[in-house]
Amino acid sequence: MKTYAHIIGWGMAVPKRVLTNREISRMVDTTEEWIVSRTGIRERRIAGPQDTTASLGLEAARKAIEVADISPGEIDLIIVATSTPEHLFPATACMIQDALGARKAGAFDLLAACTGFIYALSLASQAITSGAMNTVLVIGSETMSRIVNWEDRGTCILFGDGAGAFVLRGSEQRGGVLASLLRSDGSGADLLSVPAGGSRKPTSIETLRDNLHTVQMNGPEVFRFATTVMVDACRKVVADAGLRMSEIDRIVPHQANERIVAAAARGLKLPVDRFVLNLERYGNTSTASIPIALCEAVAAGTIKPNTNIVFVAFGGGLTWGAALVRWDVTMPAAPSSWRRLQRRAFYGISRVRSALRRGARTVEGFIFGKLSAEGEEPPHTGKS
Ligand code: UT7
Repeated sequence: MKTYAHIIGWGMAVPKRVLTNREISRMVDTTEEWIVSRTGIRERRIAGPQDTTASLGLEAARKAIEVADISPGEIDLIIVATSTPEHLFPATACMIQDALGARKAGAFDLLAACTGFIYALSLASQAITSGAMNTVLVIGSETMSRIVNWEDRGTCILFGDGAGAFVLRGSEQRGGVLASLLRSDGSGADLLSVPAGGSRKPTSIETLRDNLHTVQMNGPEVFRFATTVMVDACRKVVADAGLRMSEIDRIVPHQANERIVAAAARGLKLPVDRFVLNLERYGNTSTASIPIALCEAVAAGTIKPNTNIVFVAFGGGLTWGAALVRWDVTMPAAPSSWRRLQRRAFYGISRVRSALRRGARTVEGFIFGKLSAEGEEPPHTGKS
């Protein structure tokens, strides 16, 4: 019997702080009208001092887990797609795994720039359909405001912060992720990048002086690339699923620029209202843009059960990809207050357990340090 990967939970989180075009026009040489007419963006959310990629991702994940009405202990794998991780390593996914108390989950970050969520969704679905996993949590989370050059009018107007998450689970009922497509072209790596801070150009006085730790982009080139690949990827993923474009009910595109979406709609000969758009309020939240748009569309009732949806994205790398999902979920009934309470207690216990493990490591380290200083072999505890 074939297993299908169904999306059974979804959630989003955005910071409270709204940054309007008017405010940006006081920071760089631009106007509200230019930003709206060239991008469609009116405002975006910006992380506060206590918001991070992990905290936003965690909030979105908890909401998705609520909708799925599962226990974090049931999650087999957590994938966080992000271009703005908490650290170079360890993975942001591990921070979220710990905070959720997802004790049997593997966890890793995935970097495919703005296409990251599609890559993560595709891998999660394949892990489920292969039978290797049953429940996978996929998160797209970003704090783009931390890597944007706030003096560069070509990029700072575009990006925003936020997170979205899906819970996927295997079922023998046909539906869920029916096809996906992942592509890349590294020859365009320089078109959209953060050049320094990795092993090629480690942080130095020079990289800081030259602002190489912020997003650098060739806007018109990325624009051209995006309009072509969006159309090709949509056509291919629809054909791979054995469907026709006329059978696609909604397209949830990466929310980068309204004009890119309009060009894709023209290329696909589809009305633009077939596309879910909310970039007006959030800007480009990179890997988070697709799940945030999906969450809002579901909440607004504009995505109906038993419809075919295409998710499509492009981004730095260059990367692009698409996934075709049979949205067969009805809005779940609100979980009982008892289940909700159980989960809250679970998160509390997980926090305490994590603190105890940290404390135990410190004590062990202190004792072993003392023993080594006195020339004794530390005992083998059998723990790894
Ligand atoms: O997740 C993927 C992320 N990246 C993207 O999706 C980016 C794709 N590219 C774009 O969305 C567009 O290329 C931009 C919105 C970034 C720029 O729009 P454009 O229509 O391609 O503008 P442009 O770069 O061709 O620049 C046209 C003019 C230039 O002035 P001159 O040389 O004609 O005098 C720019 O300096 O607009 C100027 N300009 C601005 N003017 C006012 C560029 N940015 C701004 C600005 N305000 N913020």
